[in-house]
Amino acid sequence: MLSVEQNERITRVGPGTPMGTLMRRYWQPVAGEAEFVDAPTKRVRILGESLTLFKDKSGRYGLIAQRCPHRLVDLATGYPDAEGLRCIYHGWKFDTAGNCIDQPAEPADSTFKDRVHITSYPLEVMGGLIWAYMGPEPRPLLPRWDLFVMNGVFRQIGATVLPANWLQCQENSADSWHAMFTHGWYANYLIDRSESRGEAVNPFMRSTAAMFTNNPDERHAYERAEYGMLKRRIRRGETEEAHGWKTGHQMLFPNYVRIGKKGWYAFQMRIPMDDTHTWHLHYEVIDPGPDVDVPPQSVVPMFEVPVMEHPDFILGQDYVAWHEQGEIADRSQEMLGQSDEGVILLRQMLLEQIEVAERGKDPINVFRDPAKNESLSLPTEHYGDFSDYKDGAISYYDTGRYGYIDEIEALYQQAKQRALQKK
Ligand code: FES
Ligand SMILES: [Fe+2]
Repeated sequence: MLSVEQNERITRVGPGTPMGTLMRRYWQPVAGEAEFVDAPTKRVRILGESLTLFKDKSGRYGLIAQRCPHRLVDLATGYPDAEGLRCIYHGWKFDTAGNCIDQPAEPADSTFKDRVHITSYPLEVMGGLIWAYMGPEPRPLLPRWDLFVMNGVFRQIGATVLPANWLQCQENSADSWHAMFTHGWYANYLIDRSESRGEAVNPFMRSTAAMFTNNPDERHAYERAEYGMLKRRIRRGETEEAHGWKTGHQMLFPNYVRIGKKGWYAFQMRIPMDDTHTWHLHYEVIDPGPDVDVPPQSVVPMFEVPVMEHPDFILGQDYVAWHEQGEIADRSQEMLGQSDEGVILLRQMLLEQIEVAERGKDPINVFRDPAKNESLSLPTEHYGDFSDYKDGAISYYDTGRYGYIDEIEALYQQAKQRALQKK
């Protein structure tokens, strides 16, 4: 249990708040490049700030204040120029650094525009995402986590705006016990419910729920790791040689988790839009191995993953738990047991690292050495090979079914055929 004050410290993300100070030490994704294929601007809500993201006609991205400082028109309605974004009302133009570079109705010899600057934040593009840095300079490097920079893979990004505080999502990644109940028992209930109504049930939902139920988790352990937290798990009948224990799962501090296994990897990224909204990204990488050529992607596709009342996919079941804890879960009212040790450890780490950031020091996962940042790899559970891929299983892999399911199934089928030929 936390005090009310501690709960405020680790949940609120606006400017000047403790967690807002920590979160501003990390680059945050604010859009997918796919969102700019047809639109020149995006309304961005990030860390409690409302901003305008735009792409000018030269292909440069800028993240600037929401409103034009002249008469306060929302700049998301603006239109791009060769350099910068122009306001629709009186044509003021802003460059990517927030400088006003044109005021066409002012006298030609006016120097007014030179004194007009609006909020702007630096951006970088990596892995199909546009990343912003909103913290103090000197800014750190944009971390090159492996999934964002791997070659020869297929990527897709499932995005959801969840009406709840970011930490409820992230605490889930330090709470391995929930999987048995949320994705086993609860999924079984949903299956029974669908069957009693004569509705079709995804066969992979059935087998996954059965796996969690018949082969239950027996032991969990959590420990600090270089990049956050390592979670280990043993299921009934397994030993410490099992992948779930030996390799385990990585929780990336402060707001990602790495999931997946051979050929399918993902980051679940919990981007705080404000105190009560989270932009949840399911960043998926499909790697069918060296034997299969993956067609190049001109842009990493993005798609919306719905929040459902009765979800028949894994992440949807998590979504229900997260937003049903309330907009901001009141952790002063909880009753924690021994099985909550991972959640307790995460909260300790957050409180510690907030203090580090408040002292002006670099918290963990802030990188400044380019050699270290070449590619930041995370060990992932690797098990099975493509010969044992169960046809169509992508349809239940979290967001897979809402994305490019046919393309991914085709890649897996090729990988499976090659693997079978080699046997
Ligand atoms: S309100 Fe933007 S130029 Fe006047
Ligand atoms: Fe889950």
